[in-house]
Amino acid sequence: MTRVKIVEVGPRDGLQNEAQAIDTATKIELIDRLGAAGLTVIEATAFVSPKWVPQMADNAAVLRGLHRRPGVTYPVLTPNLKGFEAALEAGATEVAIFAAASESFSKRNINCSIAESLERFRPVAEAAKSAGVALRGYVSCVVACPYEGAIEPKAVAEVSKALLDMGAYEVSLGDTIGKGVPATIRRMIDAVAAVVPVELLAGHYHDTWGMAVANIAASLDAGITTFDASVSGLGGCPYAKGASGNVATEDVVYLMQGMGIETGIDLDLLVDAGAFISAKLGRRNGSKVAQAILAARA
Ligand code: HMG
Ligand code: MG
Repeated sequence: MTRVKIVEVGPRDGLQNEAQAIDTATKIELIDRLGAAGLTVIEATAFVSPKWVPQMADNAAVLRGLHRRPGVTYPVLTPNLKGFEAALEAGATEVAIFAAASESFSKRNINCSIAESLERFRPVAEAAKSAGVALRGYVSCVVACPYEGAIEPKAVAEVSKALLDMGAYEVSLGDTIGKGVPATIRRMIDAVAAVVPVELLAGHYHDTWGMAVANIAASLDAGITTFDASVSGLGGCPYAKGASGNVATEDVVYLMQGMGIETGIDLDLLVDAGAFISAKLGRRNGSKVAQAILAARA
């Protein structure tokens, strides 16, 4: 393999979990900087209930305010038709529906069972298709659930297939609480790839237990070439207590550079983007690679 696609999820998965207020202009500047660094897919915000996730309440202002670059897409989360309609109105050209492989997580995250969630996503998928809006799917808790413990790979395969059958062009496999290790991630991917083409899968690994980069290396071996990541390792999940951020985008880019795999991303500009948001949040940069580069620059 010579190239991977990196989906930047920091402005959504990263910032959704921040307790402090972040102004819309800062979010937009972060998205602009990520685009300038060469990211071509930047998940911008979420059209979810502001009562559930207050940090995403300025979704329409972010989506309307960002400066669209040619060749860059700005997907947004839409849990239901209400979210989809609001996203469309604000100019979305790509949306993501998000299911789980764990019943308890589904209930806590989107207040319905897995089966109910799929029924709720169906009209979103249909509306997206008729509006010419691209549809991505997520499955959370692909290895473990904060409420149920270990999750059977078979459950992940079933939900992934359902999302693809509905019209998603890709399904992102979320290790929401970062408990996976290369062996469990590989077992899960192999089970999913037995029922859907592996080219349609993406890895979405939180780095809570420090295994995300190793899990990406294992996923490359399993044939996955798309990875979600969050600049400076921003984030967590409001419905997965103790979950830390996604794998840092800087760490993924450095890994790929070392393996001779193209990402199209300028690591220096990416480090600047991570330093910008870390300073704004008064937060330690969560990327080891960024820390090393910043130390070498000083
Ligand atoms: P509900 O309370 O069951 O919804 O929430 P409802 O249909 O009964 O409506 C209740 C209220 O919410 C109503 O308002 C609706 O209008 C409003 P009220 O009459 O009370 O004033 N409402 C909305 N408002 C704005 N946008 C909407 C919307 N829908 C209803 N789209 C719901 C169900 C799905 C809305 C809620 O549970 C929710 O918003 N959940 C989102 C949770 C979330 O965003 N979690 C984080 C993202 S997922 C994630 O991080 C995992 C991932 O990264 C992968 C991984 O790491 O595993 C993707
Ligand atoms: Mg996530």
